[in-house]
Amino acid sequence: MTRGCFIALEGGDGTGKSTQARLLAEALRQKGIEVVVTREPGGTPGAEAIRELLFDPPGEIWGAEAEALLFAAARSDHVANRILPALEGGEWVVTDRFVDSSRAYQGAARWLGDAVIKQLHEIGSGGLRPDLVILIELDENTIAQRPAERDDGSSDAIGRRDDEYHREVARAFRSYAEADPEGYAIIDGTGTSQEVHQRVIGAVKPLLER
Ligand code: TYD
Repeated sequence: MTRGCFIALEGGDGTGKSTQARLLAEALRQKGIEVVVTREPGGTPGAEAIRELLFDPPGEIWGAEAEALLFAAARSDHVANRILPALEGGEWVVTDRFVDSSRAYQGAARWLGDAVIKQLHEIGSGGLRPDLVILIELDENTIAQRPAERDDGSSDAIGRRDDEYHREVARAFRSYAEADPEGYAIIDGTGTSQEVHQRVIGAVKPLLER
């Protein structure tokens, strides 16, 4: 059985990752590939329960360390019970966020550092890396404006952190992509969802030809 490909969509809040994950999965299925679409934090009953712990309490209740541990615990369950079984069964997995979100939001923007997040990921999830990370970027001003625009009660405590926090998240994502051009595709998130989807398809092509 050939192991499936593992693709993570990453980027700031409100960059359109969920829509792109769905469109990518539909396009892959049309090519006859079996695809699991999932998200973080979440994707399993255990990880969805941790998601509620992270986001349901009102306001900011978690310190940086507890927050990073909760995300790592959710990921550990997601990897063990959903991602690895699918990949090993030959299915492709498309996830809306993975460990780079913890590196950017907790490691970089909450100052825990990259080494700590990588260590937690090693313990929790054996250091699993996607075959490809698709980083969807919107310019800094748009990213900074998004959480405020979406502040209609739908954005969570992390989404509501200030503009500088979200700029730091965006800078961190870009630095990971620039350090590993093979492992990442940087996608311009402007335009219609179909326009962005065509860019995503272009980035995934090498995996289809493998
Ligand atoms: P998500 O549901 O993807 O929301 P959005 O559509 O706003 O991107 O993610 C929820 C929030 O959780 C988002 O603000 C990013 C944050 N997050 C982290 O801080 N660390 C992580 O490891 C993950 C997976 C998400």
